[in-house]
Amino acid sequence: MFSGYKNAWSDEQAYTEVYRNSIQNPNEFWQSHARGISWKIEPSIVFDAVTGKWFSGGISNVCYNCVDRHAIATPEKPAIIWYGDEEDERREISCAELLRMVIRIASILKSRGIKKNDVVGIYMPMIPEAVAAMLACARIGAIHLVIFAGFSPEALKYRLTKSNAKVLLTVTSFRRGGKEIELVNRISDAIDIDIINLDSITYPDNINADIEWQNSDDDLFILYTSGSSGNPKGVLHSALPYMLYVAATFKVIFGIKRDDVYFCTSDVGWITGHSYITYAPLFYGLTTVIFSGSPTYPSAERYWQIIENEKVNIFYTAPTAIRSLQMFNKKLVKKHDLSSLRVLGSVGEPINKSAWKWYFETVGNRRCPIMDTWWQTETGGIILAPLRNLEQKPGVAGKPFFGVETEIIDGELVLKGHFPGMCKSIIGAENATQDGIFRTGDGAAYDGADIKISGRMDDVINVSGHRLGTAEFECAISKVAGVREVAVVAVPDELKGQTAFAYIVPNATDIAPEMLVKKVIQSTRTTIGSIAKPDYIAIVPDLPKTRSGKIVRKLLKNIAMGSDALVDISSVANPQIIETIKIITQNSIFVPNMCKL
Ligand code: WT7
Repeated sequence: MFSGYKNAWSDEQAYTEVYRNSIQNPNEFWQSHARGISWKIEPSIVFDAVTGKWFSGGISNVCYNCVDRHAIATPEKPAIIWYGDEEDERREISCAELLRMVIRIASILKSRGIKKNDVVGIYMPMIPEAVAAMLACARIGAIHLVIFAGFSPEALKYRLTKSNAKVLLTVTSFRRGGKEIELVNRISDAIDIDIINLDSITYPDNINADIEWQNSDDDLFILYTSGSSGNPKGVLHSALPYMLYVAATFKVIFGIKRDDVYFCTSDVGWITGHSYITYAPLFYGLTTVIFSGSPTYPSAERYWQIIENEKVNIFYTAPTAIRSLQMFNKKLVKKHDLSSLRVLGSVGEPINKSAWKWYFETVGNRRCPIMDTWWQTETGGIILAPLRNLEQKPGVAGKPFFGVETEIIDGELVLKGHFPGMCKSIIGAENATQDGIFRTGDGAAYDGADIKISGRMDDVINVSGHRLGTAEFECAISKVAGVREVAVVAVPDELKGQTAFAYIVPNATDIAPEMLVKKVIQSTRTTIGSIAKPDYIAIVPDLPKTRSGKIVRKLLKNIAMGSDALVDISSVANPQIIETIKIITQNSIFVPNMCKL
């Protein structure tokens, strides 16, 4: 029933038919994809509604599927091509070499006593060893916990401690944008954990890293992401069901071919770097291109050079990167031969019309569909994407993947039922995935038969595609001596999509504003990381509050956006403050980028 639909993600009628079948016969649909997995023991059932588990009885290993079987079949084929900060830094890792790297790292972990289900922290730049470290964990049944190298040691410590991590894999330093960024020295004082520095390690003599054959539903990784509360939450994903979901979505939505070269500009620190840099492309034995530099260093041509050099067929990036490159002369794109490109992808935030148009026309030469993929850390893989043809509507994420039921309830996108990509649990938000109903937190509306996403409805800010909670900013800022109260709201930003606007009430009037701002920036940097800088700060005498003392954030948000939209102020206990805040907002302090990672 599910074979013979080669155009199921490009032709409306074929899509509709396969989608209907997939919802009516989900087990058959997922079973057809599970055949691509090399099982040691085949699963006896597809989805068990009683236990909520996928592919029970099935035994396999994620690393075996993504590395070993390709090292046997196509040992010489490049698995990873890496580009560094300077234009001449390039490494090619064959399938056989990737297996050797994975085995070496796995054997170190074993020699440090790491066993199945132990949590292993990974705090590394975008180098092949970071991908190999994840796969090494998968090989021995350990659970990886990748922490983006741009997060501060304090943010790192929180994640390691909460997840009870046993060791931390890292490297001495790395270069990005022409600057050296320290890693090991930044953390060794702050954190009491067994640190393995992969660039100064002696590998054990007797390499011992046999595959740990896993139950389908065993754990693969934890990844932290932001929610509405002050603390980030740990999202736990399963091994084989997750791998199957990311592989199936990758194949169907991007329409991959066996010899494709694929380049995704994300980082292993985010879910995209897990699902669509590591697991999906390597599952099919494709060549995955990774890049640890900055798109604008030494020139704003880095992506286009890499696409030309490697004859990249599928390119997957974020709207914020597109917007920043769009500002440069078109010639920087046009001087490169990008004719190898077949499909372009976008992820992380809504893509605005002008960025979409530039991507389609200047990068894709009007030949490549733009796959505006909507999904989340929690969903593991892509949920919505437009059909892969040239009749797309800019900014409309599109249609649900097969087997996934969506509904819009009170303006919010909701996922119903079960699909194998969905996380097993969320540490810190325990009820979020119960009852087969998952509220995504994103606003959505129908556009004909398609779904258009408008953005977060909750207290999550999406800064350059990085998901951060306003409450996380507030926790970091309220730690500063001199701050009595703080409220952070999201405001639109032309380049970053959104940015944080902080309203601060100082606890004494004689504090120099510049000093306070400096301390606030320092605190967000050390508590979260330099990606979490509020761009605007207003120092105000008081915040608008209800009679019960709750800050009226919606009002602050409207003021910050300069919007005249009426907010019911009858519940505000101190309305006289509103005019004062409006005036101060107009003269708020803009915090320029002092330190970019
Ligand atoms: C949030 C999830 C998806 C992997 C990277 C981010 C926003 C993501 C889109 C899109 C509009 C998007 C949503 C979502 N988002 N993709 N194509 N159009 N919004 O994963 O860090 O878990 O963030 O990113 O608001 O809820 P994440």
